[in-house]
Amino acid sequence: MNDIAWRFAPSLIDEALRRALPASELPEETLKPEPDARGHAPDSQSAPCADSCPSRGAQTATDERAALHQAMNYAVFGGGKRLRSQLALEAAGIVGGDTALEKALPAACAIELIHAYSLVHDDLPAMDNADTRRGRPSCHRQFGEAVAILAGDALLTMAFEVLAGDVILAGDAEPDESPLVNARVDAASLLRVIRLVAQAAGEAGMVGGQAIDIAWSNVSANAQQGARLGDTSVSGESLTRMHAMKTGALIRVAAEAGAVLGGGTMQQIRALRDYGAHLGRAFQLTDDLLDATGDPHRTGKAATDSANGKATAPQVFGLAQTVQLAREASEAAVAALEDFGAQADTLRQLARFVAQREK
Ligand code: IPE
Ligand code: IPE
Ligand code: MG
Ligand code: MG
Ligand code: MG
Repeated sequence: MNDIAWRFAPSLIDEALRRALPASELPEETLKPEPDARGHAPDSQSAPCADSCPSRGAQTATDERAALHQAMNYAVFGGGKRLRSQLALEAAGIVGGDTALEKALPAACAIELIHAYSLVHDDLPAMDNADTRRGRPSCHRQFGEAVAILAGDALLTMAFEVLAGDVILAGDAEPDESPLVNARVDAASLLRVIRLVAQAAGEAGMVGGQAIDIAWSNVSANAQQGARLGDTSVSGESLTRMHAMKTGALIRVAAEAGAVLGGGTMQQIRALRDYGAHLGRAFQLTDDLLDATGDPHRTGKAATDSANGKATAPQVFGLAQTVQLAREASEAAVAALEDFGAQADTLRQLARFVAQREK
């Protein structure tokens, strides 16, 4: 994604996230991507922002919550692609121009926080039992399970504080000097976005999809029904529905929320929502492919699907058809943008990236 010309500089998203999160002095070694088990250092796109970037907490936490704060920062910074937050901002910019970007920034950050939490919990031993993420030890491997669970809880909760409030832009300035960003968004649109994000994150969306994923797997005591490797009981249709929930919902709502907050028309919101849904489908198909055939040095995470007996796209559709389905989903995403002109070229580029990505 490095060569995509975003309207909003990735470093500014990190800066906004830094302001939302509690201050934390991460131990130096946790800031750098760790070499993986085979000794290769994965490439990292974004680093935590420097000291110049003010954060919400007045000073570094030295109290009992220090580990919680460190784990929250660890989960949010250090190599994420920022796909969902960039998508929300692009969607806002496409329908509302550059002045819409700030209006969508809290939602973009909130969705990124929810995504970060979902990864922390996804990696836990009771879920995917993954030791690595973004080329470093996964959050629970670095901080222990209890702290990782709580960091996830705190990130999810904070996401709604950020979405509903003034955390991102208000900083320490007087409101007059730095108008609260959400004051510029009409209350009805904001309430609509809060509801959409909650639905996408919860049991009807990401969490529900994760529950299905786990129920189909052979992960310890969680498995409820038999979709072991080679078991054909999971249909392509069911798998696609599960992908749409666990991954597609958050990606789709990023595009949708951006379009709503940018002041898009009903037709524009629907088009961007469709784009996001297709993009999410392409994204998880490729994620499953990368688990089966990708290079862990590039993805920053070791393969876990096979060991966990997961129902995945390569297992259900076969490798070649998964590649084809990802390409088709990416093309469908581009097709959803047909009413937009050159201002949507970045999202067209993003759709192509998602189907071809190696990390
Ligand atoms: C990984 O998402 C989890 C899935 C939904 C497949 P990303 O690949 O977007 O994770 P980061 O934020 O870039 O690490
Ligand atoms: C989606 O699937 C994860 C979430 C919804 C958080 P995966 O379990 O395949 O994601 P990775 O491969 O661990 O990133
Ligand atoms: Mg998982
Ligand atoms: Mg996983
Ligand atoms: Mg995966």
